[in-house]
Amino acid sequence: MNYKEWNLEAAVQPSVQPETIPETEPERQCYFMAKAKKLVAMQSARAGRPLTCCIRTFGCQMNARDSEKLLGILEAAGYVPTEDEDADFTLYNTCTVRENANLKVYGRLGHLGSLKKKHPGMVIALCGCMMQEPQVVEKIRKSYRFVDLIFGTHNIYKLAELLTERLERESGMVVDVWEGTDQIVEELPTDRKFSFKSGVNIMFGCDNFCSYCIVPYVRGRERSRSPEDIVAEVRRLAADGVVEVMLLGQNVNSYGKNLKETITFAQLLQQVEQVEGIERIRFMTSHPKDLSDELIQVMKDSKKICHHLHLPLQSGSSRILKLMNRRYTKEQYLKLVDKLKTAIPDIALTTDIIVGFPGETEEDFLETMDVVEKVRYDSAFTFIYSKRTGTPAAKMENQVPEDIVKDRFDRLLAQVQRISSEVSGRDVHTVQKVLAEEVNSHDSRLLTGRLDNNTVVHFPGDPSLIGKIVDVYLDEIKGFYYMGTLADVQGGKIQ
Ligand code: 5AD
Ligand code: SF4
Repeated sequence: MNYKEWNLEAAVQPSVQPETIPETEPERQCYFMAKAKKLVAMQSARAGRPLTCCIRTFGCQMNARDSEKLLGILEAAGYVPTEDEDADFTLYNTCTVRENANLKVYGRLGHLGSLKKKHPGMVIALCGCMMQEPQVVEKIRKSYRFVDLIFGTHNIYKLAELLTERLERESGMVVDVWEGTDQIVEELPTDRKFSFKSGVNIMFGCDNFCSYCIVPYVRGRERSRSPEDIVAEVRRLAADGVVEVMLLGQNVNSYGKNLKETITFAQLLQQVEQVEGIERIRFMTSHPKDLSDELIQVMKDSKKICHHLHLPLQSGSSRILKLMNRRYTKEQYLKLVDKLKTAIPDIALTTDIIVGFPGETEEDFLETMDVVEKVRYDSAFTFIYSKRTGTPAAKMENQVPEDIVKDRFDRLLAQVQRISSEVSGRDVHTVQKVLAEEVNSHDSRLLTGRLDNNTVVHFPGDPSLIGKIVDVYLDEIKGFYYMGTLADVQGGKIQ
């Protein structure tokens, strides 16, 4: 729900200003949003200007969606958003999947500290995956004492309450990190980045425990939202002008398994497909071990589900896959890809690959290269293995020397890029449906949009087309993107 339609005044008066603080959610947060709003208004009157807020998001699509919710709450409390980190309330929504994500946050925190010295009253807050690690919170308490507020991944919905506590207290660090939760709080305000497309959380957490991955420890156990809540949210989004939804979860293929009335992901997709106004459906991320024939069939039959699948490989060596606890072999993965390509010949496949997992030999690495050659991915995110404290892989011996990892990484990247540039251009000289997303940042005469299969297209067009799906003739492929021209419905080129 866009916060602009979310009626804070109606929600807080008179029922949400009772003597006692409501116990249940979301009423409790409505109460605190109203309270924070008063405190922010007082500070704003003192300063003689509106108070500003800035959120920096690190990491994945889940974090991006969380940030939209956090911004919705801050705006409901009266803050005006800005891109400038020198704001009255600056929040880092952090990621910890690889060590360099952490280092980035520490690096930038020093800069925030110096901004705060010149900006009395500035509130600095940290949240997200990194804050779920006790040693991180410890380090911030000791070495970054200017931080005002820390919370984790399980209680982002409580921002209004934590903010109120901090504003009332005026000094000292407020820390509230939960180990886990089975609660999913709905119905809080959200400020979406795009008016025409939106992420929709369908589940939270992960139960897979891949041996290198910290996500299950920082995002907790798998919890699915009810299909009724998801479909209701998609309906509201459609009514608000959204044409594309991205269903989000760490492992969407195991959606519904822990609900009282079990439902499969494929069945959920069929329900979302029924929502009028939604024209494109995407989802992230699929685990190969759980990708069902039912899902392939539903994708094939659907008019709205995009022909794009992100299917993390991680390694092409069955031996390494076993050590990674991925629960599929190279052969099973390749068979699955075959099945997908046979059912949906124009499907675009993308993936994640880790290089340098402990014990990875040259032979193992060549197995990965072999899968890349056989599958011919549209694109692949390649990562150097990063040791995460607390995961089983961190305790494994024979970590691969840095120079060998770097060499393998470079070879893999070159291969991925070569194949990607060969594969990406397959639709050149055809007319395709493109969702116009934004004015091109380098040339304002151009619009930038995406094909159903997620490939980027730049074409001359008027900003009024943003948010619309238009026919574009693809003139030329330039590496990973097309240059195109608006076409009429017959597929002819407009001169
Ligand atoms: N080191 C390197 N890459 C990792 N990923 C997850 N954990 C690690 C790690 N410890 C990658 C995986 C996953 C993606 C989101 O991040 O490839 O699919
Ligand atoms: Fe991490 Fe594996 Fe879960 Fe993905 S499926 S979040 S890689 S544990």
